[in-house]
Amino acid sequence: MNTTAIRKQMSIHPEVMDLLNNQIAMEMKASASYLAMASWCDQRELLNSKAFFYKQAEEEREHAMKIFTFINDNGGGAVSPDVIDVNNDFESLRSVYETGLEQEIAVTESIFKIFKASRKESDYITEVFLQWFITEQSEEEDTFRSILDLFDLMEGMPLKMIDERLPKE
Ligand code: FEO
Repeated sequence: MNTTAIRKQMSIHPEVMDLLNNQIAMEMKASASYLAMASWCDQRELLNSKAFFYKQAEEEREHAMKIFTFINDNGGGAVSPDVIDVNNDFESLRSVYETGLEQEIAVTESIFKIFKASRKESDYITEVFLQWFITEQSEEEDTFRSILDLFDLMEGMPLKMIDERLPKE
């Protein structure tokens, strides 16, 4: 049997695969960005926030890897991305979480874009694969919004007391 028969025929539409590769880059950038946020919190002994962002950094890497293996398992070519221009400067703890929410909203929009493209190209395998990500994004946005609501309630409290009331994960 020749190797082309052993290698699964590519079942992902080529344009959709490009979008998925861009998504890998976006998830890895999100992971690096959360690592920067974890470090900012770690340096200020904000223990709950630190744990939260280290966990987020890990989760984003897992998301990238899910897409990476999905592409290769379906006969495509996953690309290991460059991760550049990671911001490490934040004005406040609140702005760290606001940046996190903005990042999640951008990821959700990007996932929707790939979902629409996979529908348009009748790429059913990708469409089904992306359903998990849509649910995940909805949960992640909710998490950040709830945390930002807490900031409104705790306005004026010392930073450490705010951090002690925030979730670790
Ligand atoms: Fe994987 Fe929350 O973006």
